[in-house]
Amino acid sequence: MKHLNIGLFGFGNVGRGLYDVLKRINSDNVTIKRICVRNIEKDRGIKAEFTDNPDDIFNDRDINLVVEVIDDAEAAYDIVKRALKSRIPVVSGNKKMLGHHILELIDLQEQYNTALLYDASACGSIPVIRNLEEYYDNDLLCSVKGILNGSSNFILSKIFNEKMGYKEALKLAQDLGFAESNPTLDIDGWDSLYKLIIITMHAFGVYVAPEQIFTYGISTMNDADIRFAEEKDRRIKLVAHVEKIDDRLIMCVIPQLISRNKYIYSVEDEFNGVVIKGLFYDKQFMFGRGAGGHPTGSAVLSDITACAYNYRYEYKKRNDSVLPRYTTEHTFRVYFRYKSAEQRNLLNFLKVREQYTSDEYNYIVGDVTIANLKAHQEELRTPDCFVAAYPFD
Ligand SMILES: NC(=O)c1ccc[n+]([C@@H]2O[C@H](COP(=O)([O-])OP(=O)(O)OC[C@H]3O[C@@H](n4cnc5c(N)ncnc54)[C@H](OP(=O)(O)O)[C@@H]3O)[C@@H](O)[C@H]2O)c1
Repeated sequence: MKHLNIGLFGFGNVGRGLYDVLKRINSDNVTIKRICVRNIEKDRGIKAEFTDNPDDIFNDRDINLVVEVIDDAEAAYDIVKRALKSRIPVVSGNKKMLGHHILELIDLQEQYNTALLYDASACGSIPVIRNLEEYYDNDLLCSVKGILNGSSNFILSKIFNEKMGYKEALKLAQDLGFAESNPTLDIDGWDSLYKLIIITMHAFGVYVAPEQIFTYGISTMNDADIRFAEEKDRRIKLVAHVEKIDDRLIMCVIPQLISRNKYIYSVEDEFNGVVIKGLFYDKQFMFGRGAGGHPTGSAVLSDITACAYNYRYEYKKRNDSVLPRYTTEHTFRVYFRYKSAEQRNLLNFLKVREQYTSDEYNYIVGDVTIANLKAHQEELRTPDCFVAAYPFD
């Protein structure tokens, strides 16, 4: 294993987590040579070479690996591109940046023959990307579905198990370092979306841009929705889902009413759970900490070690002769709470299975297409509305 001198960008939850993990294992092979942060004036309480100038890392000839764990996707994009173009391998945790730019970054890896690894970006400490890349054969793989956002799951656990208020639970998630600096990324589903895009690339070899995928979170969920879930003996979980159905691929991020018999029903707090379904092996379940400085720091370390052994993602499935075609023409059963007749008419129910009306709110249980939901994604994001998938089993 070659010695790695790391130029680290970011010293927040994950950067510090990586620093602690490295200190704890006392590795002879990995050294953090220099750390670039936004605010050089902040007291970090450690002795290390800090800078706020990326050039100090890129011009340091001893640095042979860049690790980027900052919370600014645009700056992260520049750092990763610059590292690849300088032929310095790079490890990144930034799913938003990857969700938007992964295709270009795959090309750059090829062009400059340099690795970009990002297992830590998708499910914190769960090694889902390398597993999908190396182990799961495309023809046998049917779906990947799971709880990919630790922060919203933490909030939902506190609400369902401890009857905590929404704002209080969010504040606690932030205080514990699970939430993104901008919490709408977590609770409105965007964080799960970016992870889903990365996972889909490695599971099925297909890239679908963020704006094409129905993405809806838990920010408008209220007591009526919680009551509905409890009456049906289900729990609401924020689920990201990609599924291959014949030659078609469907994807979405949506809260789901999950029944007790499902693996993800009992995924609590900041944990993530991913269910991988195959044609012949049925279901497999990966479970672990999806957020937090130390779990994510250790996933970053795993990528660092993989770099030391010259590991690279090969994106093999992109070369399959027939790739599934992304579509939103797929129907599923949903629970839809709304207030006005205008809101009711946003969704074109192919079949209505249950209805409720009152002075405070109304709901419908029925079948809609993802395309219909996608067309009204932003109008549905109001406190008067909430949509959750309501699978039959
Ligand atoms: N937190 C998690 O559990 C988790 C899990 C998986 C992946 N991630 C990903 O890991 C990344 C970091 O997350 P985090 O939770 O550690 O964020 P964070 O706690 O908010 O820390 C962000 C760090 O980035 C630095 N920074 C921001 N812009 C910069 C720039 N242009 N140049 C250099 N440094 C810059 C900040 O510097 P200052 O300290 O000076 O402000 C800070 O140290 C994000 O992409 C996130 O999505 C996080």
